Amino acid sequence: MNARFEPSRGLSGEIRAPADKSISHRAALLGAMASEPVRIERFLHAADTNSTLDAVRTLGALVEVHEEEVVVRGTGLRDALVPDGAINVGNAGTLLRLLPGWLAAQDGRSFTLDGDESIRRRPVDRIAEPLALMGAEMSAREGRLPPLHIRGARLRAISFTLAVASAQVKSCVLLAALAADGTTIVREPAQSRDHTERMLLAAGVAVSRERLEVRVVNADELLLGSVRVPGDASSAAFLVAAGVLVPRSRLLIRDVGVNWTRTGFLRIVRRMRGIVLGDLEEEGSALAGDEPVSDLDVAHGALEGTVVEPHEVPLAIDELPLVALLGCFAEGETIVRGAQELRVKESDRIAGVVDGLRGLGADIEATSDGFAVRGSGGLRGGSIDARGDHRLAMLGAVAGLASEEGVEVHGMDAAAVSYPGFAEDLARLALG
Ligand code: S3P
Repeated sequence: MNARFEPSRGLSGEIRAPADKSISHRAALLGAMASEPVRIERFLHAADTNSTLDAVRTLGALVEVHEEEVVVRGTGLRDALVPDGAINVGNAGTLLRLLPGWLAAQDGRSFTLDGDESIRRRPVDRIAEPLALMGAEMSAREGRLPPLHIRGARLRAISFTLAVASAQVKSCVLLAALAADGTTIVREPAQSRDHTERMLLAAGVAVSRERLEVRVVNADELLLGSVRVPGDASSAAFLVAAGVLVPRSRLLIRDVGVNWTRTGFLRIVRRMRGIVLGDLEEEGSALAGDEPVSDLDVAHGALEGTVVEPHEVPLAIDELPLVALLGCFAEGETIVRGAQELRVKESDRIAGVVDGLRGLGADIEATSDGFAVRGSGGLRGGSIDARGDHRLAMLGAVAGLASEEGVEVHGMDAAAVSYPGFAEDLARLALG
């Protein structure tokens, strides 16, 4: 589906960001692994998270949906059922990487995970390696791509160092560790989002973090009770960017999750002199069992270029396309370094962002590990291909509102993966 986004006269009003995708996935998965029913308040109903509900149903969980509230009655840590065929993860990379952590602990049972065309290009060797070290039998197409086959086993605890800072890989190992035979240690090269650790802590698991090292002690059961999902900082980021870029804008975005491991983008925007007020969790805060929330007050203003360094990348990974867009409007140069992971997201996001924004008039080039943008005071407009990637679709929409001539987004329907109703929300906020 194509959609056109005309230059906006300003965005104004209050809006609630959609529920967090990462936390919704985790709540449904932990619900399936828990011994008691788990009540999830404000579950995100989007294509990705619905794939997770479908997956846990096929594994034996009972899922009741009452609008925003979802109740999951799970099978416990070691009693997942074997589905009839392959588990279809759709477009959901988080499901593809986290679910195997649980399945690896299903002793003697086999599972296959597969998904759409984009999923078939997402590497799974990064989770197959630690799960094999723990004792599961793992195999994948060409050793690294889906379909992924898992034969569960009695797992051993491991001490494992991640090659890339990935919350998905870390979480996979932490979930497997619950049913392993001791304490598992995971080290990451830089801090990535810590929702899994927080939720496990809330479920009574002995999990701790010392700098970049997470330890988790095996558990008999998960007792999660209920989870309240905050607004998604990554979805809110598109609204923040629109508010910052479009003249005359003033937005109040309610109920946004401000866990410091997710707010790297907001810190980057502030560094670029963008106006985003809100009570962000302090950077480097110790691991806690809750997810902090805040309202964000956003206003249009002039921006300055910035350099995003590698250690900041995991904390803003899904928002880096927006940093490129802001860079087009900023004074001076904006550079993102150490972001080669963008090449293996829902699409190659370095190529998608660079080609896409260049087609709209940006002065941007790809580097080996990111991109460099020379601010030219704005964007002309034109058309952009979402490449089946929800975040590129939403990037194109925001670019259109801030552009001189408007933007036609090819494949706008991809936005429903994380933010159904995004275009409608933008239209509702538009000043007449
Ligand atoms: C996610 C982690 C990130 C992010 C993805 C969601 C998660 O991936 O890009 O959209 O929910 O854990 P990596 O941890 O693999 O970088």
